[in-house]
Amino acid sequence: MSDRLISAATHARTNAHAPFSKFRVGAAVEDADGHIHTGCNVENATYGLTVCAERVAIFKAISEGARRFTRVAVVADTDTLTPPCGACRQILWEFCGDVEIVLANLSGKTETLRLVTLFPRAFDASFL
Ligand code: THU
Repeated sequence: MSDRLISAATHARTNAHAPFSKFRVGAAVEDADGHIHTGCNVENATYGLTVCAERVAIFKAISEGARRFTRVAVVADTDTLTPPCGACRQILWEFCGDVEIVLANLSGKTETLRLVTLFPRAFDASFL
């Protein structure tokens, strides 16, 4: 099951627009209907306007009407598997809650964990 999601994220990574960092990332989000939504990082010359692959994937999914998510894959070409950045953890928590996160690299190394282990004690709408 993870293979399909990892493949989608790996393919999305090839579309990364990363001329500044050269660090290409792909992400894929599976919704409750089994549909996969993908994203890649999109950098900007101002640097700060760069958007990570995970946020592109989740925002694409939201904009297509998806609301419940089961798994997220993140693929980068690093020996130590690349986890979502802090901003992406907050956004993933907002839309996916304690979702399954699959980290993978191009050599076939993978690790599966829950978002709560990466992002404990989150601030969310339950506090408002
Ligand atoms: N990046 C992602 O897209 N996702 C991550 O999980 C980590 C970082 C991107 C942002 C930027 O384009 C490049 O990787 C270097 O930080």
